[in-house]
Amino acid sequence: MKLLICGGAGFIGSTFVRQRVKEHGDEVTVLDKLTYAGREENLQDLAEDPSFRFLRGAIEDREAVSAAIDAAAPQAIVNFAAETHVDRSIAEPDAFVSTHALGTYVLLEAAREHELRYVQVSTDEVYGSIEEGTFTEDSPLAPSSPYSATKAGADLLVASYFHTYGLPTLICRGSNNYGPYQYPEKLIPLMILNALHGDALPVYGDGMQVRNWIHAGDFSAAIGHVLAHGVPGEVYNAGGPDEEANMTVVRRIIAFTGASESQIEHVTDRPGHDRRYSLSSQKVRALGWSPQVRFEEGLEQTVAWYRDNAWWWEPIRSGDYRAYYERQYGQSLG
Ligand code: NAD
Ligand code: TYD
Repeated sequence: MKLLICGGAGFIGSTFVRQRVKEHGDEVTVLDKLTYAGREENLQDLAEDPSFRFLRGAIEDREAVSAAIDAAAPQAIVNFAAETHVDRSIAEPDAFVSTHALGTYVLLEAAREHELRYVQVSTDEVYGSIEEGTFTEDSPLAPSSPYSATKAGADLLVASYFHTYGLPTLICRGSNNYGPYQYPEKLIPLMILNALHGDALPVYGDGMQVRNWIHAGDFSAAIGHVLAHGVPGEVYNAGGPDEEANMTVVRRIIAFTGASESQIEHVTDRPGHDRRYSLSSQKVRALGWSPQVRFEEGLEQTVAWYRDNAWWWEPIRSGDYRAYYERQYGQSLG
Protein backbone atom coordinates (compact mmCIF):
# COMPACT_ATOMS: atom_id res chain seq x y z
CA MET A 1 0.00 0.00 0.00
CA LYS A 2 0.92 3.65 -0.31
CA LEU A 3 0.45 5.31 3.07
CA LEU A 4 0.60 8.83 4.49
CA ILE A 5 1.60 8.40 8.13
CA CYS A 6 1.20 11.54 10.25
CA GLY A 7 3.25 11.76 13.44
CA GLY A 8 5.46 8.96 12.12
CA ALA A 9 8.63 10.39 13.69
CA GLY A 10 7.37 9.76 17.24
CA PHE A 11 7.66 6.66 19.39
CA ILE A 12 4.80 4.45 18.13
CA GLY A 13 4.57 6.09 14.70
CA SER A 14 8.20 5.24 13.91
CA THR A 15 7.65 1.65 15.10
CA PHE A 16 4.64 1.38 12.78
CA VAL A 17 6.52 2.96 9.84
CA ARG A 18 9.41 0.49 10.27
CA GLN A 19 6.96 -2.41 10.35
CA ARG A 20 5.11 -1.26 7.24
CA VAL A 21 8.24 -0.64 5.16
CA LYS A 22 10.28 -3.65 6.28
CA GLU A 23 7.61 -6.29 6.87
CA HIS A 24 4.79 -5.28 4.50
CA GLY A 25 6.68 -3.64 1.64
CA ASP A 26 4.52 -0.51 1.84
CA GLU A 27 5.52 2.83 0.36
CA VAL A 28 5.42 5.30 3.24
CA THR A 29 5.42 9.09 3.44
CA VAL A 30 5.75 10.54 6.92
CA LEU A 31 4.38 14.00 7.71
CA ASP A 32 5.59 15.18 11.11
CA LYS A 33 5.95 18.58 12.77
CA LEU A 34 8.99 17.39 14.78
CA THR A 35 7.87 18.72 18.13
CA TYR A 36 10.17 18.00 21.09
CA ALA A 37 8.90 14.38 20.92
CA GLY A 38 9.38 13.84 17.17
CA ARG A 39 12.87 13.01 15.94
CA GLU A 40 14.23 12.02 12.53
CA GLU A 41 16.72 9.85 14.46
CA ASN A 42 13.78 7.55 15.21
CA LEU A 43 13.69 6.69 11.49
CA GLN A 44 17.36 6.93 10.59
CA ASP A 45 17.57 3.25 9.62
CA LEU A 46 15.01 3.97 6.85
CA ALA A 47 16.51 7.25 5.61
CA GLU A 48 18.05 5.68 2.47
CA ASP A 49 15.14 3.33 1.75
CA PRO A 50 13.45 4.18 -1.60
CA SER A 51 10.06 3.20 -0.07
CA PHE A 52 10.37 5.91 2.57
CA ARG A 53 9.92 9.68 2.39
CA PHE A 54 9.99 12.23 5.22
CA LEU A 55 8.24 15.61 5.10
CA ARG A 56 8.31 18.10 7.92
CA GLY A 57 4.95 19.79 8.51
CA ALA A 58 2.01 20.13 10.87
CA ILE A 59 -1.32 18.34 10.43
CA GLU A 60 -3.17 21.59 11.20
CA ASP A 61 -1.42 23.23 8.20
CA ARG A 62 -3.69 22.68 5.17
CA GLU A 63 -0.93 23.42 2.67
CA ALA A 64 1.51 21.01 4.28
CA VAL A 65 -1.15 18.28 4.30
CA SER A 66 -2.09 18.95 0.69
CA ALA A 67 1.59 18.85 -0.39
CA ALA A 68 2.08 15.60 1.51
CA ILE A 69 -0.90 14.00 -0.24
CA ASP A 70 0.39 15.15 -3.62
CA ALA A 71 3.81 13.64 -2.87
CA ALA A 72 2.51 10.39 -1.35
CA ALA A 73 -0.52 9.67 -3.57
CA PRO A 74 -1.70 7.48 -0.67
CA GLN A 75 -4.55 4.98 -0.43
CA ALA A 76 -4.85 5.69 3.28
CA ILE A 77 -3.91 8.15 6.03
CA VAL A 78 -2.86 6.81 9.42
CA ASN A 79 -2.78 9.55 12.06
CA PHE A 80 -0.46 9.23 15.04
CA ALA A 81 0.28 12.97 15.29
CA ALA A 82 -0.53 14.16 18.79
CA GLU A 83 0.69 15.78 21.94
CA THR A 84 0.91 12.75 24.20
CA HIS A 85 2.01 13.56 27.72
CA VAL A 86 -0.69 13.96 30.38
CA ASP A 87 1.54 16.06 32.68
CA ARG A 88 2.28 18.52 29.86
CA SER A 89 -1.44 18.71 29.06
CA ILE A 90 -2.08 19.73 32.67
CA ALA A 91 0.65 22.41 32.59
CA GLU A 92 0.03 23.72 29.04
CA PRO A 93 -3.06 22.44 27.21
CA ASP A 94 -2.87 24.78 24.15
CA ALA A 95 -1.09 22.51 21.68
CA PHE A 96 -3.32 19.58 22.69
CA VAL A 97 -6.39 21.48 21.53
CA SER A 98 -4.89 22.69 18.25
CA THR A 99 -3.26 19.41 17.21
CA HIS A 100 -6.08 17.09 18.24
CA ALA A 101 -9.06 19.24 17.21
CA LEU A 102 -7.85 21.38 14.31
CA GLY A 103 -5.19 18.94 13.08
CA THR A 104 -7.59 15.99 12.96
CA TYR A 105 -10.17 18.16 11.18
CA VAL A 106 -7.67 19.20 8.48
CA LEU A 107 -6.68 15.56 7.89
CA LEU A 108 -10.33 14.43 7.71
CA GLU A 109 -11.10 17.12 5.15
CA ALA A 110 -8.11 16.03 3.07
CA ALA A 111 -9.20 12.38 3.32
CA ARG A 112 -12.69 13.38 2.20
CA GLU A 113 -11.43 15.40 -0.75
CA HIS A 114 -9.18 12.56 -1.95
CA GLU A 115 -11.52 9.68 -0.93
CA LEU A 116 -8.96 8.01 1.34
CA ARG A 117 -9.33 5.40 4.05
CA TYR A 118 -8.54 7.06 7.39
CA VAL A 119 -7.20 5.45 10.58
CA GLN A 120 -7.12 7.51 13.79
CA VAL A 121 -4.72 6.26 16.45
CA SER A 122 -6.29 6.79 19.84
CA THR A 123 -5.99 5.79 23.47
CA ASP A 124 -7.77 3.89 26.25
CA GLU A 125 -7.60 7.13 28.25
CA VAL A 126 -10.71 8.39 26.42
CA TYR A 127 -12.75 5.97 28.58
CA GLY A 128 -11.35 7.41 31.81
CA SER A 129 -10.42 5.34 34.87
CA ILE A 130 -11.94 1.95 35.77
CA GLU A 131 -11.67 0.43 39.27
CA GLU A 132 -12.73 -3.10 38.26
CA GLY A 133 -13.46 -4.86 34.98
CA THR A 134 -12.43 -3.83 31.50
CA PHE A 135 -13.47 -1.23 28.93
CA THR A 136 -14.99 -2.35 25.65
CA GLU A 137 -15.57 -0.27 22.52
CA ASP A 138 -19.13 0.41 23.80
CA SER A 139 -18.00 1.91 27.11
CA PRO A 140 -18.90 5.60 27.44
CA LEU A 141 -16.22 8.22 26.87
CA ALA A 142 -15.29 9.86 30.19
CA PRO A 143 -11.85 11.41 29.75
CA SER A 144 -10.15 13.06 32.73
CA SER A 145 -7.21 15.15 31.50
CA PRO A 146 -6.85 17.78 28.77
CA TYR A 147 -4.85 15.10 26.88
CA SER A 148 -7.57 12.46 26.98
CA ALA A 149 -10.42 14.96 26.54
CA THR A 150 -8.94 16.37 23.33
CA LYS A 151 -8.18 12.83 22.07
CA ALA A 152 -11.84 11.92 22.77
CA GLY A 153 -12.95 15.03 20.90
CA ALA A 154 -10.85 14.00 17.92
CA ASP A 155 -12.38 10.49 18.01
CA LEU A 156 -15.89 11.98 17.95
CA LEU A 157 -14.99 14.18 15.00
CA VAL A 158 -13.59 11.16 13.14
CA ALA A 159 -16.80 9.21 13.82
CA SER A 160 -18.88 12.14 12.54
CA TYR A 161 -17.08 12.00 9.18
CA PHE A 162 -18.19 8.37 8.80
CA HIS A 163 -21.79 9.08 9.81
CA THR A 164 -22.16 12.34 7.90
CA TYR A 165 -20.03 11.91 4.78
CA GLY A 166 -19.53 8.14 4.61
CA LEU A 167 -15.75 8.57 4.87
CA PRO A 168 -14.22 5.13 5.58
CA THR A 169 -12.81 5.95 9.02
CA LEU A 170 -11.45 3.60 11.66
CA ILE A 171 -10.31 4.26 15.22
CA CYS A 172 -7.78 2.12 17.04
CA ARG A 173 -7.43 2.74 20.80
CA GLY A 174 -4.34 1.38 22.51
CA SER A 175 -3.41 0.89 26.14
CA ASN A 176 -0.11 2.20 27.62
CA ASN A 177 2.74 1.48 25.18
CA TYR A 178 6.39 0.83 25.99
CA GLY A 179 9.47 -0.15 23.99
CA PRO A 180 12.51 1.42 22.25
CA TYR A 181 12.43 5.08 21.10
CA GLN A 182 9.93 6.28 23.75
CA TYR A 183 10.65 9.84 24.88
CA PRO A 184 11.88 9.75 28.50
CA GLU A 185 9.08 11.92 29.93
CA LYS A 186 6.95 8.74 30.16
CA LEU A 187 7.09 6.38 33.16
CA ILE A 188 9.14 3.48 31.77
CA PRO A 189 11.96 5.27 29.90
CA LEU A 190 12.12 7.94 32.63
CA MET A 191 12.61 5.29 35.30
CA ILE A 192 15.11 3.29 33.20
CA LEU A 193 17.32 6.31 32.48
CA ASN A 194 17.09 7.64 36.06
CA ALA A 195 17.89 4.18 37.40
CA LEU A 196 20.94 3.90 35.12
CA HIS A 197 22.16 7.37 36.18
CA GLY A 198 21.62 6.95 39.95
CA ASP A 199 18.89 9.65 39.92
CA ALA A 200 15.76 9.61 42.09
CA LEU A 201 12.83 7.50 40.81
CA PRO A 202 9.81 9.84 41.25
CA VAL A 203 6.66 7.81 41.96
CA TYR A 204 3.42 9.82 41.96
CA GLY A 205 1.34 9.33 45.12
CA ASP A 206 1.20 5.77 46.45
CA GLY A 207 2.31 4.25 43.12
CA MET A 208 -0.60 1.78 43.15
CA GLN A 209 -2.10 3.13 39.91
CA VAL A 210 -2.48 0.32 37.36
CA ARG A 211 -1.67 0.45 33.66
CA ASN A 212 -2.33 -2.16 30.95
CA TRP A 213 1.05 -2.41 29.19
CA ILE A 214 1.38 -3.18 25.46
CA HIS A 215 4.62 -3.36 23.50
CA ALA A 216 4.70 -0.72 20.71
CA GLY A 217 5.39 -3.47 18.16
CA ASP A 218 2.17 -5.23 19.20
CA PHE A 219 0.12 -2.02 19.10
CA SER A 220 1.56 -1.21 15.66
CA ALA A 221 0.56 -4.67 14.42
CA ALA A 222 -2.98 -4.11 15.76
CA ILE A 223 -3.19 -0.79 13.87
CA GLY A 224 -2.00 -2.65 10.75
CA HIS A 225 -4.83 -5.18 11.17
CA VAL A 226 -7.37 -2.40 11.57
CA LEU A 227 -6.00 -0.63 8.50
CA ALA A 228 -6.20 -3.78 6.39
CA HIS A 229 -9.28 -5.57 7.75
CA GLY A 230 -11.26 -3.16 9.94
CA VAL A 231 -14.87 -2.32 9.12
CA PRO A 232 -15.33 1.39 8.34
CA GLY A 233 -17.06 3.35 11.09
CA GLU A 234 -15.85 0.95 13.80
CA VAL A 235 -13.64 1.40 16.85
CA TYR A 236 -11.10 -1.28 17.82
CA ASN A 237 -9.42 -1.49 21.23
CA ALA A 238 -5.93 -2.98 21.46
CA GLY A 239 -4.88 -3.71 25.04
CA GLY A 240 -1.72 -5.40 26.20
CA PRO A 241 -1.57 -8.83 27.87
CA ASP A 242 -0.53 -7.59 31.34
CA GLU A 243 -1.65 -5.06 33.93
CA GLU A 244 0.76 -3.81 36.57
CA ALA A 245 0.87 -1.26 39.36
CA ASN A 246 3.45 1.49 38.86
CA MET A 247 5.40 0.39 41.95
CA THR A 248 5.78 -3.10 40.49
CA VAL A 249 7.02 -1.64 37.21
CA VAL A 250 9.56 0.51 39.06
CA ARG A 251 10.76 -2.46 41.12
CA ARG A 252 11.22 -4.55 37.99
CA ILE A 253 13.29 -1.74 36.43
CA ILE A 254 15.41 -1.55 39.58
CA ALA A 255 16.06 -5.31 39.30
CA PHE A 256 16.93 -5.15 35.57
CA THR A 257 19.27 -2.15 35.95
CA GLY A 258 20.91 -3.05 39.26
CA ALA A 259 19.72 0.25 40.78
CA SER A 260 18.77 0.65 44.44
CA GLU A 261 15.32 0.70 46.10
CA SER A 262 16.58 3.74 48.01
CA GLN A 263 16.32 5.73 44.75
CA ILE A 264 12.48 5.52 44.95
CA GLU A 265 10.96 8.84 45.99
CA HIS A 266 7.20 9.28 46.48
CA VAL A 267 6.35 12.72 45.07
CA THR A 268 3.16 14.81 44.88
CA ASP A 269 0.45 13.00 42.94
CA ARG A 270 -0.68 14.12 39.47
CA PRO A 271 -3.90 16.20 39.67
CA GLY A 272 -6.92 14.14 38.57
CA HIS A 273 -4.73 11.03 38.29
CA ASP A 274 -6.56 8.06 36.69
CA ARG A 275 -6.30 5.04 38.99
CA ARG A 276 -6.53 2.19 36.52
CA TYR A 277 -6.83 1.52 32.79
CA SER A 278 -7.90 -1.83 31.37
CA LEU A 279 -8.88 -2.64 27.81
CA SER A 280 -10.65 -5.61 26.25
CA SER A 281 -9.40 -6.43 22.72
CA GLN A 282 -11.95 -9.02 21.52
CA LYS A 283 -12.88 -7.07 18.38
CA VAL A 284 -9.36 -6.66 17.05
CA ARG A 285 -8.50 -10.23 18.03
CA ALA A 286 -11.39 -11.28 15.76
CA LEU A 287 -9.49 -9.57 12.91
CA GLY A 288 -6.60 -12.01 13.53
CA TRP A 289 -4.42 -9.98 15.89
CA SER A 290 -3.03 -11.01 19.24
CA PRO A 291 -0.26 -9.46 21.36
CA GLN A 292 3.04 -11.37 21.17
CA VAL A 293 5.13 -9.81 23.92
CA ARG A 294 4.53 -10.39 27.63
CA PHE A 295 5.39 -7.42 29.81
CA GLU A 296 8.25 -8.92 31.83
CA GLU A 297 10.12 -10.06 28.70
CA GLY A 298 9.38 -6.83 26.78
CA LEU A 299 10.48 -4.68 29.71
CA GLU A 300 13.80 -6.54 30.03
CA GLN A 301 14.42 -6.04 26.28
CA THR A 302 13.48 -2.36 26.60
CA VAL A 303 15.91 -1.84 29.48
CA ALA A 304 18.64 -3.47 27.36
CA TRP A 305 17.80 -1.21 24.40
CA TYR A 306 18.16 1.96 26.49
CA ARG A 307 21.39 0.67 28.01
CA ASP A 308 22.82 -0.04 24.54
CA ASN A 309 21.59 3.09 22.74
CA ALA A 310 23.02 6.08 24.56
CA TRP A 311 23.43 7.76 21.12
CA TRP A 312 19.63 8.03 21.06
CA TRP A 313 18.93 9.43 24.53
CA GLU A 314 22.08 11.43 25.33
CA PRO A 315 21.07 14.46 23.19
CA ILE A 316 17.60 14.39 24.82
CA ARG A 317 18.86 14.12 28.37
CA SER A 318 21.37 16.92 27.87
CA GLY A 319 18.93 19.24 26.04
CA ASP A 320 15.52 20.89 26.71
CA TYR A 321 14.39 17.81 28.58
CA ARG A 322 16.56 18.84 31.54
CA ALA A 323 14.63 22.11 31.88
CA TYR A 324 11.31 20.26 31.53
CA TYR A 325 12.40 17.82 34.23
CA GLU A 326 13.31 20.63 36.63
CA ARG A 327 9.95 22.35 36.03
CA GLN A 328 7.96 19.14 36.47
CA TYR A 329 9.86 17.52 39.35
CA GLY A 330 11.49 20.51 41.07
CA GLN A 331 14.88 18.81 41.00
CA SER A 332 17.72 18.42 38.50
CA LEU A 333 18.91 15.30 36.76
CA GLY A 334 22.36 14.09 37.74
P1 NAD B 1 5.01 10.76 20.65
O1 NAD B 1 4.80 11.95 21.54
O2 NAD B 1 6.23 9.93 20.82
O3 NAD B 1 4.97 11.21 19.12
C1 NAD B 1 4.03 12.12 18.61
C2 NAD B 1 4.51 12.52 17.23
O4 NAD B 1 3.54 13.41 16.66
C3 NAD B 1 5.85 13.25 17.24
O5 NAD B 1 6.68 12.77 16.19
C4 NAD B 1 5.46 14.71 17.00
O6 NAD B 1 6.48 15.46 16.36
C5 NAD B 1 4.24 14.52 16.11
N1 NAD B 1 3.32 15.69 16.17
C6 NAD B 1 2.84 16.28 17.28
N2 NAD B 1 2.02 17.30 16.91
C7 NAD B 1 2.00 17.32 15.56
C8 NAD B 1 1.32 18.13 14.61
N3 NAD B 1 0.53 19.12 14.99
N4 NAD B 1 1.51 17.85 13.30
C9 NAD B 1 2.33 16.85 12.90
N5 NAD B 1 3.01 16.07 13.76
C10 NAD B 1 2.83 16.30 15.07
O7 NAD B 1 3.68 9.90 20.82
P2 NAD B 1 3.40 8.33 20.76
O8 NAD B 1 3.52 7.79 22.13
O9 NAD B 1 4.17 7.73 19.64
O10 NAD B 1 1.85 8.33 20.41
C11 NAD B 1 1.40 8.28 19.06
C12 NAD B 1 -0.11 8.19 19.04
O11 NAD B 1 -0.54 7.03 19.78
C13 NAD B 1 -0.82 9.38 19.68
O12 NAD B 1 -1.96 9.70 18.91
C14 NAD B 1 -1.24 8.87 21.05
O13 NAD B 1 -2.39 9.54 21.53
C15 NAD B 1 -1.50 7.41 20.75
N6 NAD B 1 -1.33 6.50 21.89
C16 NAD B 1 -0.18 6.54 22.63
C17 NAD B 1 -0.04 5.63 23.69
C18 NAD B 1 1.22 5.61 24.53
O14 NAD B 1 1.26 4.90 25.55
N7 NAD B 1 2.29 6.30 24.16
C19 NAD B 1 -1.05 4.72 23.98
C20 NAD B 1 -2.21 4.72 23.18
C21 NAD B 1 -2.32 5.61 22.14
P1 TYD C 1 2.72 7.98 31.85
O1 TYD C 1 3.86 7.22 31.31
O2 TYD C 1 2.79 9.47 31.89
O3 TYD C 1 1.43 7.48 31.06
P2 TYD C 1 -0.16 7.78 31.33
O4 TYD C 1 -0.29 8.85 32.33
O5 TYD C 1 -0.62 8.22 29.98
O6 TYD C 1 -0.73 6.48 31.77
O7 TYD C 1 2.45 7.48 33.34
C1 TYD C 1 2.18 6.12 33.62
C2 TYD C 1 1.87 6.01 35.10
O8 TYD C 1 3.05 6.32 35.83
C3 TYD C 1 0.83 7.00 35.59
O9 TYD C 1 0.05 6.37 36.61
C4 TYD C 1 1.62 8.13 36.19
C5 TYD C 1 2.85 7.42 36.73
N1 TYD C 1 4.10 8.21 36.74
C6 TYD C 1 4.86 8.32 37.93
O10 TYD C 1 4.48 7.76 38.98
N2 TYD C 1 6.00 9.04 37.90
C7 TYD C 1 6.44 9.68 36.77
O11 TYD C 1 7.49 10.36 36.82
C8 TYD C 1 5.67 9.54 35.56
C9 TYD C 1 6.12 10.21 34.30
C10 TYD C 1 4.51 8.79 35.60
